[in-house]
Amino acid sequence: MHTLTPDLADLLAVAAAARQRAYCPYSRFAVGAAALTASGVTFPGCNIENAAYPATICAERVALFNAYAAGEREIVALAVIADTPGPVSPCGGCRQVILELAPRAIVVMANLGGAWRVASISELLPDGFSSASFDE
Ligand code: THU
Repeated sequence: MHTLTPDLADLLAVAAAARQRAYCPYSRFAVGAAALTASGVTFPGCNIENAAYPATICAERVALFNAYAAGEREIVALAVIADTPGPVSPCGGCRQVILELAPRAIVVMANLGGAWRVASISELLPDGFSSASFDE
């Protein structure tokens, strides 16, 4: 049985704490996330819903946008946690955002029961669309 490195376990703990702050009155599905930057700073995120449902934002994006808003650009790890049967799987929109904002990050997915897995964004979004498609 593999164990998470201490850094990633800490990141997951930040994500779990952020999950408690989710604003999800419509789905009642709370998600927490945390982004770790190369400078060693951790940014939390939780899902924040809206009565106009499409205006909802996922936990992963809040964590990444938090980091970017603070001026960070190098995300080394992104943790996400929810109360799911197995490790929670980021939605397609978040995968696209991870590809853009955290292309080198280790993505740690977990549930409340202690199940977890790690993946790269190329595993989560193979052949994804990026600026490489139109940059010369
Ligand atoms: N959600 C996330 O925050 N992250 C995901 O990867 C999946 C979905 C949120 C969006 C919405 O608030 C709720 O979970 C149900 O879809």
